[in-house]
Amino acid sequence: MKIFVDTASIKEIEDLAQWGIIEGATTNPTLLSEEGGDPVKVIKRICEILKGPVSAEVVSQDCDGMVREARELARIDEHVVVKIPMTVEGLKAVKILSRDGIKTNVTLIFQPVQALLAAKAGATYVSPFVGRLDDIGHTGLEVVGQILQIYENYGFGTQVIVASVRHPLHVLDAALMGAHIATIPPKVIRQIVNHPLTDIGIDKFLKDWEKLKGK
Ligand code: E4P
Repeated sequence: MKIFVDTASIKEIEDLAQWGIIEGATTNPTLLSEEGGDPVKVIKRICEILKGPVSAEVVSQDCDGMVREARELARIDEHVVVKIPMTVEGLKAVKILSRDGIKTNVTLIFQPVQALLAAKAGATYVSPFVGRLDDIGHTGLEVVGQILQIYENYGFGTQVIVASVRHPLHVLDAALMGAHIATIPPKVIRQIVNHPLTDIGIDKFLKDWEKLKGK
């Protein structure tokens, strides 16, 4: 499973890129507005740091507007993947963009058949939002499992990005299900690394090593 970072924070991405495990990033209008500055420059900088797929979202609601924005976004850098919302206009835009060779990430997926339609339109990626489904009393990861099953049944090449990840268990379940990618907020990436028994273990090894030196 590939790990993308779900943020537009240049500082966080510069730091996490050094770990050598991050293969791409996802942004959205909320994350870009939190980062501030010129969104084009922010997206360009993220692409330069990661040299992997970086999702940037259109804000138009109609197909023509989405296609126009998508072409502008795709010109920022070869690594840009255009995020398109899961709507009728969005599907039409994905069809056009996929014919043009522009990579798309169909976002705001909340049920498996939406992902089937996105794949049929030619989406490169789909993003089911697991945390937001959990928030309203559904099990978000069930949707991921069903999408993976549908894609396997029919041999779709569309990749599933598990999005709206809120905690390490989402990442574990995504990996157990065989999701292609999880896009994870920096805070959760750090949570995954840390375990109290690892810290206790290091502490004990260091203390025992000191004892040996004292002998
Ligand atoms: C990523 O593609 C999504 O925009 C993001 O994961 C949404 O996360 P949220 O539900 O925590 O806002």
